[in-house]
Amino acid sequence: MKILCVVGTRPEAIKMAPVILALQAVPQFEVRVLATAQHRHMLDQVLNFFGITPDIDLNIMRPNQTLSALTARLLLELGGVLEAEKPDVVLAQGDTTTVMTVALACFYHRVPFGHVEAGLRTGDINNPFPEEANRVIAGRLAHWHFAPTESSRANLLRENVANAEIFVTGNTVIDALLMTAQRDIEIGVQLDDSKRLVLITSHRRENFGEPFRNICRALRSLAGRNPDIQLLYAVHPNPNVKDVAHAMLSDCDNIVLCEPLDYAPFIAAMKKSYMIISDSGGVQEEAPALGKPVLVLRDETERPEAVDMGVVKLVGPNYERILEEAQRLLDDRSAYEAMARGVSPYGDGDASQRIVKVLQEFANR
Ligand code: UD1
Ligand code: UDP
Repeated sequence: MKILCVVGTRPEAIKMAPVILALQAVPQFEVRVLATAQHRHMLDQVLNFFGITPDIDLNIMRPNQTLSALTARLLLELGGVLEAEKPDVVLAQGDTTTVMTVALACFYHRVPFGHVEAGLRTGDINNPFPEEANRVIAGRLAHWHFAPTESSRANLLRENVANAEIFVTGNTVIDALLMTAQRDIEIGVQLDDSKRLVLITSHRRENFGEPFRNICRALRSLAGRNPDIQLLYAVHPNPNVKDVAHAMLSDCDNIVLCEPLDYAPFIAAMKKSYMIISDSGGVQEEAPALGKPVLVLRDETERPEAVDMGVVKLVGPNYERILEEAQRLLDDRSAYEAMARGVSPYGDGDASQRIVKVLQEFANR
């Protein structure tokens, strides 16, 4: 059986890598890897780390690409690949433009599509933008729904997806984390070890503009009020983020702005951190497993499990809430310990094996 695995951005590569490696170990599968390269450098570094070489590379990324142009170019290219490759099954992960267009191209070409990380929902089509729409579309078109948790299964059942098409596997992000976290890897950034480390990432489109400036103002104030901490901010290369972050934060003594960290150094930075402030989906899943509190720079999340367990807190792109909750974690030991418990609601490290098993059963039918 020929399985085409598609990756476009950094988080897709991280979450598909364990699946690709597990599929490659099964002799009855012919595994092909397609990189759309919606991200370029950030995708390449992950694939290199996991030793995965794409068989096909669409090299789609353009500087500051728009959603419409990206979607149109992806759909055209993907149609051609499906015609040429004729896969029996296509797999893609998550809620990016790559995944939405892959699902649509598979529908047009009548190829069964397996959606990894299926069923995440906020219920608000505008938040996160455009990811909620992307995953709703991918979910509507998928043949297999590999849902990470029972609550994502419940979301799919509410949308009338048949229970027999849903497989609760855990999130493959934890498979990747367990493959990586034990390794002794340097962060590769000069840090002041006498200071507590606060790790920052931010890239959501719905925060662009004033909300993102609020986030930067809050980070400035947090750093100014607490000379005993150091903020390490791995700045996303999207110009809407990068230009503003550098303009607003580069003159603060205890804020270090760096390029996106490679995956393993980023995990090392998470392990070293005291707490994390982020709007990343993947970070919300990884940090609880590493026992690190996360303040999420959003008002809602499609990942409610860690919030319900009290180890992740939503603070929005809101100046006062960011400062108040970050200061509480810095000053109040018991509040900190309640959030730094080390729980893993998103997986046990075997999600990829469960996906492989489902596809083996399909191949053997
Ligand atoms: C994309 C996804 C988002 C995901 C995020 C993960 C869409 C619409 N958005 O957002 O869901 O959470 O990736 O990081 O699918 N760039 C580079 N080098 C890179 C990568 C990006 O320079 O390696 C710059 C380019 O100018 C590019 C821009 O970032 O045009 C935006 O990239 P894009 O993939 O469109 O959106 P992201 O904000 O990265
Ligand atoms: N990550 C990384 N380097 C960084 C920041 C994040 O390797 O500088 C990893 C992180 O460990 C997680 C993933 O990238 O697995 C999250 O990607 P991102 O935040 O870009 O996207 P999202 O998860 O929000 O879609």
